[in-house]
Amino acid sequence: MPAKPSHPAAPTDGPRHVALIMDGNGRWAQARGLPRAMGHREGVQALKRTVQAAPALGITCLTVFGFSTENWSRPAEEVSDLMGLVRTYVASDLKRLEREGVRVRILGRRAGLPADIAAIIDRTEATTAHNDRFTLQVAFNYGGRADIVDAARRHVDRVLAGEATGPLDEQALGAGLSTAGAPPVDVIVRTSGEQRLSNFLLWEAAYAELVYQHVLWPDYGAEALADVVEQYRNRDRRFGGRAAPNAAPALAAG
Ligand code: FPP
Repeated sequence: MPAKPSHPAAPTDGPRHVALIMDGNGRWAQARGLPRAMGHREGVQALKRTVQAAPALGITCLTVFGFSTENWSRPAEEVSDLMGLVRTYVASDLKRLEREGVRVRILGRRAGLPADIAAIIDRTEATTAHNDRFTLQVAFNYGGRADIVDAARRHVDRVLAGEATGPLDEQALGAGLSTAGAPPVDVIVRTSGEQRLSNFLLWEAAYAELVYQHVLWPDYGAEALADVVEQYRNRDRRFGGRAAPNAAPALAAG
């Protein structure tokens, strides 16, 4: 009998952990003759709908890309709007998230964020830390490469402090990433039709399925997320191994 893959998600299961690149806010606003800020605001509503829909689809963890380390290069007004989204989202939704048992984790570098945003982030994480029904991870001032560099630095610091010995391996590096402790990322979704990772979850993407959807983020919700689950369940995940003997044909490498 072939050995079962060690990964927890069998082909017909899950996904448990869905990661979303919420793209298309600007185009959504432009198509309506509205300022980009309105697209981002509608994006917050879409995020609320998506978080609410996820548990019923069997998803236990959602990771979303809210602000990348590269987004600082946008005009100051738009950067300020994007920062403000955290205030809006947390102020308008924290009580509900808390009531519904959602743990909120913010991934990314705190250094460089406005002090009030950093304080909101700390408070939100502390208030919801005990929740275990569902996890929402918001990548904010996040870059996949920076996160890997930070994890390597953490390991070096631990070695220098005598808390760890080398050599650095995958387990030790993974433990230093900001996603440490979350279930493996099963699927990474990008909306708006663009097809790239844009520095999101580079380490975690190793064996994630990729799904590209043509919906613009402000139009996202339960239906689009259900479509992700259906696409995922039709994928054949092999983690570098071979397909199960009773799986459908179409065998390719990898
Ligand atoms: C990409 O659209 C989207 C962003 C850079 C920000 C995403 C943020 C939200 C959806 C709001 C929720 C976030 C938080 C932190 C609560 P774009 O501006 O690149 O769109 P375009 O490609 O159409 O121009």
